[in-house]
Amino acid sequence: SPVAVVPAFGQAFPSRPITMVVPFAPGGPTDIVARIVAERMSQTLGQQVVVENVAGAAGTTGANRVARADADGHTILMGPMSTMSFSPALYPNLAFNVLTDFEPVGIAASAPIMLVANKSLPSGSLAEFSAHLKANAASINNGNAGVGSTSHLACTLLNRRIGANPTSVPYRGTGPALQDLVAGNVGYLCDQVTSLMGQVQAGAVQPIAVLAPTRSPVLPNVPTAKEAGMEGVDMVVWNAIFAPKGTPAPVIAALNAALRRAIDDPAATARFLQLGAEAPVEADRTPEALRRVHAADVAKWGEVIRAAEIRVQ
Ligand code: MLT
Repeated sequence: SPVAVVPAFGQAFPSRPITMVVPFAPGGPTDIVARIVAERMSQTLGQQVVVENVAGAAGTTGANRVARADADGHTILMGPMSTMSFSPALYPNLAFNVLTDFEPVGIAASAPIMLVANKSLPSGSLAEFSAHLKANAASINNGNAGVGSTSHLACTLLNRRIGANPTSVPYRGTGPALQDLVAGNVGYLCDQVTSLMGQVQAGAVQPIAVLAPTRSPVLPNVPTAKEAGMEGVDMVVWNAIFAPKGTPAPVIAALNAALRRAIDDPAATARFLQLGAEAPVEADRTPEALRRVHAADVAKWGEVIRAAEIRVQ
């Protein structure tokens, strides 16, 4: 049954289709998670939840669009940890405040980062990859979704640990970067396992290491960075729904209820499992839980970025 709300005054919600802004190109993890939940939220809310890709500036263009939208729940953001937590430390003149210009709705899914390489690179361990990269950095491209994306920060931390300085090639999302990795124009990529699984299983790219504390259940043979002898490069990434600041509490509650129902749908659960993404545990499903996780990550990653002196060129 629908969870739409009818406030005492004003219009029922939702009264028309909802736009879910994905701030990166199609085919990346943000887009994949958004499409899985949007389809099912549409059924619960009785209105279409339409995914719109608004790519640019590592997600900040799309996030800004939502920050400035009417606070009525009809424009929402699938916000990745990167855009929502890294950007304040990287963009001093950001047009919005990641913490005060949004109402948290809920976490949709989280996934570990994985390092994948082009098949032309010698296959093997992280140590072999590192040695090859160090010796050939001048001729190897590192694809990413722009300065401030998880793909950029994860591989930048890795590159520094290795002591290599390859060419960083920004894309409008890791979807197109992955296509270029398969095509051979990109040497390697650090991205959430969610978007990589298909190409890894097809044998089109080679997995090198999981840059997270634990192995991914979908790729149990791929070691973690720590197991491969490298620390300080771990990153687990959430994708979460945010609404503009001032969106009424009953609307946030309706969106949160629809999101919960979407991630509990057995077909969505199966799809997440298959892709190596994880829905949040019960305690992490509330808007308050997202508020807490988000604030902690703004602080944590802000420190990492400042300590590493990573800047937008
Ligand atoms: C990132 O690098 O932050 C994301 O993978 C971007 C995307 O979803 O395309």
